[in-house]
Amino acid sequence: MSDVVATVAGLRARLAPARARGRRIGLVPTMGALHEGHLRLIREAATSCDEVVVSVFVNPTQFDDPADLAAYPADLDADAALASTAGASVVFAPEVAEMYPAGFATTVHVTGVSERWEGAARGAQHFDGVATVVAKLLGIVLPDTAWFGQKDAQQVAVVRRIVSDLNVPVAVDVTATVREPDGLAMSSRNIRLAPGDRARAGLLWRTLADARSAVAAGERDAGTLVAAAHRTLSAAGITADYWAVVDPLTFEPLDRVSPRALAIVAAQFGPVRLIDNAPLLDEPWAAGQNSTDSPPSTSSV
Ligand code: PAJ
Repeated sequence: MSDVVATVAGLRARLAPARARGRRIGLVPTMGALHEGHLRLIREAATSCDEVVVSVFVNPTQFDDPADLAAYPADLDADAALASTAGASVVFAPEVAEMYPAGFATTVHVTGVSERWEGAARGAQHFDGVATVVAKLLGIVLPDTAWFGQKDAQQVAVVRRIVSDLNVPVAVDVTATVREPDGLAMSSRNIRLAPGDRARAGLLWRTLADARSAVAAGERDAGTLVAAAHRTLSAAGITADYWAVVDPLTFEPLDRVSPRALAIVAAQFGPVRLIDNAPLLDEPWAAGQNSTDSPPSTSSV
């Protein structure tokens, strides 16, 4: 069973002997409610690190919607057991006051890549909250490698900017999206989908898979892909917040599908906002980037 640690000092003390012996330390930041997507990150971390720290912290500063924060599922015992089984050695589960004590006054704000799409839909505070808590977690754990999911591709791009711009000595590893059998990306929010919405939510992946097929058949015009996706979604009564072809590092929209191009989508289903994305071509383009996104099976894409 992994150790559950609630304080920064406790975590540093727990990791000190391993660090002194030159052991590799990995970090998997999460907000808990662990599912197979999170567990894949933890398993990957465990294959290459001696100590795997899983942080479980529902970070209030990144929530734009108080109702979403209030409804966020929390079960630390269950999360610790799951994390442990997947290979975590330490679960770091601080209280809000431990992360944001009185007098806390710093915000990490990433310009450019954080401004469009999720940044526009959820407000600047969302990625400010993510950037600040990730910078803190990296400073607290000082991992050799930190793992993030491709599912939140814009978050990955924001984290890459922080690590590069602030010279944080950590490798960022990205893990492919784990999907349900119908292609829906696993998310802690999926359990809040109404049955009808759950049935339609797999269409988000359908539009991404169709776009991949069109690109494999030679299509390179982003506008054509976007129009086809909107047709599929609106036929099912879904209005996407956005469906776009973007550069995966800057999140600037692209007119033509480049080797690194990513299709991204977001849609609201009742109270639940879902996001997904897929690389349009399967070419690996950067160290540590898992760009393969093959058709869904029960455990991977
Ligand atoms: P959370 O939503 O709990 O996700 C934690 C990590 O799991 C993220 O890197 C996310 O991309 C990854 N993940 C979620 N669903 C996934 C899936 N279906 N397949 C693969 N990976 C998946 O993202 C956050 O928490 C927070 O913003 C955080 C980074 C912890 C900062 O608070």
